[in-house]
Parts: sequence; C-alpha cells; structure tokens
Amino acid sequence: MSEPPLDCRICDRLAAFRDANRIAYPEFYNNPVPSFGPADASLLVVGLAPGLKGANKTGRPFTGDYAGDLLYETLGTYGFARGTYAADPDDGLQLVDCRITNAVRCVPPENKPIGTEIRNCRPFLATTIEQAGGLKAIVALGRIAHDSVLTALDARRASYPFGHGARHDFGSFSLFDSYHCSRYNTNTRRLTPEMFQAVFAEVRREVDARV
Ligand code: URA
Repeated sequence: MSEPPLDCRICDRLAAFRDANRIAYPEFYNNPVPSFGPADASLLVVGLAPGLKGANKTGRPFTGDYAGDLLYETLGTYGFARGTYAADPDDGLQLVDCRITNAVRCVPPENKPIGTEIRNCRPFLATTIEQAGGLKAIVALGRIAHDSVLTALDARRASYPFGHGARHDFGSFSLFDSYHCSRYNTNTRRLTPEMFQAVFAEVRREVDARV
C-alpha cells in the first residue's frame, strides 16, 4: 500500500491529534494526506509532513502551507507543474512528470514528527518509491525526508550523507538533497530561492538526460 487508509491509527499520537483537529477544525481535511501527481512520474519530491493549516486543511501536499509557495513556483519554473497554484486543491494546478509525497502522511503536533511516526509511515513511502515506474530523480526536502528515503531504499545512511545540493546515485535514479523550503529556513535565508532553484535546475537536467 502506498497510502495509509483514511482511518489509519498506527500512530497513537497522530491519530489523537487528528481526532482533536476534527473537533477544532471540522471543515479541514484532517486525514492522511495522499501523494499528488502521477504515480509513474520521473520525479518524486519527498517532504516532511502536512502542515496543520495547509496540507492537513486542503488534503493536498504543501497546499496552503507556506512551504508550498516556493515549492510550486519552482516546480512551475522547471516544467514540473502547469497552471496557477492558488493554495487550493481546486486550483487546477497539474504536476507534470512529477509526484509529491511526504515522509509522514498525517499532520504532527508542532510540525515535528517523532521517530516512531517516521518509522511507522515508512512502508507507505517505500511502496510509493517501489511503484514509481519511470523514476529518474527523488528530491528529499530536509534531512528527515533524506534519511527516511535511504532507509526505505535499504541504503546505509553513512554512505549517503545529507547536504543541501548533494546528489547520490542509485543506478536507475539519483537522490537530490535540499534544505526544506520551510518558513523558518527561507526567512533565515538558510535556503534562498536561488539555492532551491539550483537544485531543481540540476534535477531538470538529470531527468532530461536519462533515457
Ligand atoms: N506541507 C507538506 O505537505 N509537507 C511539508 O513537508 C511541509 C508542508
């Protein structure tokens, strides 16, 4: 299974948080947020987890989250998205040869999933990667996504250290690392739009170069 069931209760803390959010925000989606984009895409972008008032509200990864502004704009610039992103799942935005998923599919308290939650959700990530037919590139947004991808691939973390702009070869595809495009990272300029674009420019070249 590449997606947890809507009523997934594997993680006690996340299930309880969803229950509480259903009461506090009954109009929100408040379920595990499914991956977005075609399953056979060349590019898989792996984020961390839905934001409470973003993806958890709208039901689409990064949609309504601060981080989505830079992500969707950059995907559009490099031909991985078409249409206008309007922070709304009905905005008509289409991903082109690109899929977006999260290492953890349910919103965590304070945007911080804990180790067991990352582990519990990993089989869904592993299946998402396995089922990605024409995969040429994965972009891991942040160290947690990077580590979870490596474990899903059965790869040793020490052999593939996380670093912004790093690229790791896995034969039929490459793993690219970026700092997460979170509000904190962009406001502190740990990650500038130029740094983020440079990663996707390289991904674009890689996807186009691989047959
Ligand atoms: N929204 C998501 O869906 N994922 C992230 O990693 C951050 C915000």
